[in-house]
Amino acid sequence: MSDKPWGGAFEQPTDQLLEQFSESVSFDRRLYAQDVRGSVAHARMLAAVGVLTDTERDQIVDGLVKIGEEIAAGTFEFKTSLEDVHMNIERALTERIGDVGRKLHTGRSRNDQVSTDFRLWIRDSIDRVDGLLKNLQRAFVHRTTLDEGAIVPGYTHLQRAQPVLAAHYWLAYCEKLQRDRQRLADCRGRVNQLPLGTAALAGTTIPIDRQMVADELGFEGIVANSLDSSSDRDFALEFAYVLTQIALHLSSWAEEWILWCTTEFNFLKLPDAFCTGSSIMPQKKNPDGLELVRGKSARVVGNLQSLITLTKGLPLAYNRDLQEDKERVFDSADTVEACLELAAPMVAGAQLKRESIAAGIDRGYLDATTLMEYLIAAGVPQRTAHELIGKLVGTAMKADCRLADLPLKDFQAAHESLDESVYDVLGVERAVEAFKSFGSTNPDRVAEQVATWHEKLK
Ligand code: ARG
Repeated sequence: MSDKPWGGAFEQPTDQLLEQFSESVSFDRRLYAQDVRGSVAHARMLAAVGVLTDTERDQIVDGLVKIGEEIAAGTFEFKTSLEDVHMNIERALTERIGDVGRKLHTGRSRNDQVSTDFRLWIRDSIDRVDGLLKNLQRAFVHRTTLDEGAIVPGYTHLQRAQPVLAAHYWLAYCEKLQRDRQRLADCRGRVNQLPLGTAALAGTTIPIDRQMVADELGFEGIVANSLDSSSDRDFALEFAYVLTQIALHLSSWAEEWILWCTTEFNFLKLPDAFCTGSSIMPQKKNPDGLELVRGKSARVVGNLQSLITLTKGLPLAYNRDLQEDKERVFDSADTVEACLELAAPMVAGAQLKRESIAAGIDRGYLDATTLMEYLIAAGVPQRTAHELIGKLVGTAMKADCRLADLPLKDFQAAHESLDESVYDVLGVERAVEAFKSFGSTNPDRVAEQVATWHEKLK
């Protein structure tokens, strides 16, 4: 008494409430292209092992391809009563090619089918996100040329700390995004394992060839345990985590740039095309795009939390709870992709306000640590040098001047080894040049890194 593909043993039609409550086609239709690909590969394999004739295979493949085209064109009618994208496509196939279509689901279940489609979708998204990350890295590397030689204050605790090259700043973001790309690549390897053929939870008695399907769909390996495969969503959580890490990186960047765009900082000007105005205050140019990059990270974090909670107490194997994974992952991927798309032109188009930065660069004793290390090089123990320079900074603070403005007698009173050459390491330019270590903001080291990045992003 049921029009459902699973309705044989049912004596009542599905209640409308349950039908509406449990449908997923409203969102999992996004998997249609992956579903068609997976089914085409499955049908070819079934023919290769003798379950379908070549004619049956061709009918099924042609039918699936046409359905895929209709969905792409927007002319396909999805039915909520058929629950999900998988049953909609399969039913449409049977309506078009007749009983042959009823053979497609041989040796598989929706459980392994969903997992296969989802992995294919995530794999595509990983590749898109990686491309967008690379694009954003390029924008940051391009900035190193735009802002060549510019020195900005580096901060800890949002208090002025030491001077750094602007290029060093931009490359810091490249490094973070590079680790995100590495995480994506690592995650991709675990996503890219074929579940199809594990069927509902225990495998199948049909003599299928899973390797053939894996090869056709570009999977690197085959999931080895059907129970594991039926219940596994690690791959989705891992992807959601990597997306979260990207969103967090973007959010911190956005926060920093929002600060830099304030009148108080006055370090950065965003292109007008990437600012919005106020409906009441005529002078305003607001960084709404950056604020939304920061704000939208919240939903990506929330999606990850949902997925963790969703899977935390599920017994083996498949449970319908798992249907709740799709929207969370789609939303995280859509959000991060949109943020990355917006970030690249903002990074490329912003203008560093070099004059304004330079005008205030002498505030905050950015060269104090360099001076301390200068004293260490003269043989003074670090703890002692720290204290002596701390006192000198105190003297300069009282006089409301830079360290470079203190008279020589103050330096000599601090330590007898200090002579006029002390002025050679004071001021942000000299302080930046005094850095030596690998990974530091020394101009030569930074130039090497810029070259490395140009090479990496070619
Ligand atoms: N729409 C379901 C999902 O996304 C398909 C799997 C249904 N399997 C089942 N045993 N009811 O998870």
